[in-house]
Amino acid sequence: MTEPSTVPLVEVDDIKVHFPIKRGVILDRTVGHVYAVDGVDLSINQGETYGLVGESGCGKSTLGRAMLKLIEPTAGSITFDGVDLSSMKGEKLRTMRRRMQMVFQDPMSSLDPRQSVESLLIEGMRAHDLDKGKESTGKRLRELLSSVGLPSTALRKYPHEFSGGQRQRIGIARALTVEPDLIVADEPVSALDVSVQAQVINLLEDLQEEFGLTYLVIAHDLAVVRHISDRVGVMYLGGLVEEATSDDLYAEPLHPYTRALLSAVPVPDPALEDRRERILLVGDLPSPANPPKGCRFHTRCPWKQAEKCDTERPPLREIRPGHRVACHWAEDIRDGRIRAHEVKPESVEMDWDTPDDDATLTGPASVTETLNP
Ligand SMILES: Nc1ncnc2c1ncn2[C@@H]1O[C@H](COP(=O)(O)OP(=O)(O)OP(=O)(O)O)[C@@H](O)[C@H]1O
Ligand code: SF4
Ligand SMILES: [Mg+2]
Repeated sequence: MTEPSTVPLVEVDDIKVHFPIKRGVILDRTVGHVYAVDGVDLSINQGETYGLVGESGCGKSTLGRAMLKLIEPTAGSITFDGVDLSSMKGEKLRTMRRRMQMVFQDPMSSLDPRQSVESLLIEGMRAHDLDKGKESTGKRLRELLSSVGLPSTALRKYPHEFSGGQRQRIGIARALTVEPDLIVADEPVSALDVSVQAQVINLLEDLQEEFGLTYLVIAHDLAVVRHISDRVGVMYLGGLVEEATSDDLYAEPLHPYTRALLSAVPVPDPALEDRRERILLVGDLPSPANPPKGCRFHTRCPWKQAEKCDTERPPLREIRPGHRVACHWAEDIRDGRIRAHEVKPESVEMDWDTPDDDATLTGPASVTETLNP
């Protein structure tokens, strides 16, 4: 496998995406915001695979879309290959977008069922003036299909004639038609049978090698991301709480939320499986429309301290080279000076009309139990 370079291809700096919540008969009143992405810094190097994980609703897809400027960020900047995209619009942005493509979770809903594979694949090429005549385009499409493991006869077929895994191959081929540098793959295998997932992941890896691609792979399944990623970022309620190389993150997760997520992944070794720490996070994610003050994880954190946790939002800080963690007490937890404890359920209420700044803490009560044999 080729090592990724250390030159960033895409960088996001303090990016925020806040969706207004509208009320009133003609939806003219903004009563609050969904803080879907709320201050994320990250950078992905050329040729690298960055895995982004977190519970449903934590803002992964919104971050991925904002990175490609498919959603206009509320604040923050995006730099792609050294060019600031923040104020870029119109034709310039469209030209830049060719280099950044998205692969979606559900190939069926992202492929128009009335179009043949050939016409689906040509569409993007035409939009970017890459269709240079029947012969050369035909040759290119056949080569692309072969790269994604499909026969050239697929060109004349329609999406419904393929299996889920084959449709995802078509979705990937479609992204590749415009010769992108960056692919944001949003849950690329979650809709597929487990037996097919590994094949598609392996295909993504092969294509990265063949075409020198850079990936942001979004998944809620840590196992998927571990295999494919050079580095992994963990999101919680609109923020990045931990980031490290894949090996580091799995060997020594430092943020309590990452520890809880990882403790839910079974390990194949039965002896290890018996001994390992299990942290059960009970209760749902608080609402991103009214995130807890201070550390956003404090309502569910088994290591929560009386000091700082519910008043100061912890910044993402580098605790050792390449390993960033957003927890005030990360070193104390790592070195065993602070131990996990049970979390008392918090009673909470939802009030949309409360102004954002003094909104009541929302989100369901949560109880956390730590089993530490
Ligand atoms: N267009 C929108 N308007 C309003 N709220 C939105 C919009 N898109 C997303 N949201 C909200 O923003 C939050 C983050 O959503 P997002 O889809 O980014 O999460 P996710 O991590 O990708 O979740 P999942 O794992 O379920 O795909 C959610 O609360 C969602 O309801
Ligand atoms: S800052 Fe406090 S509440 Fe947040 S993860 Fe660290 S210990 Fe838990
Ligand atoms: Mg999503």
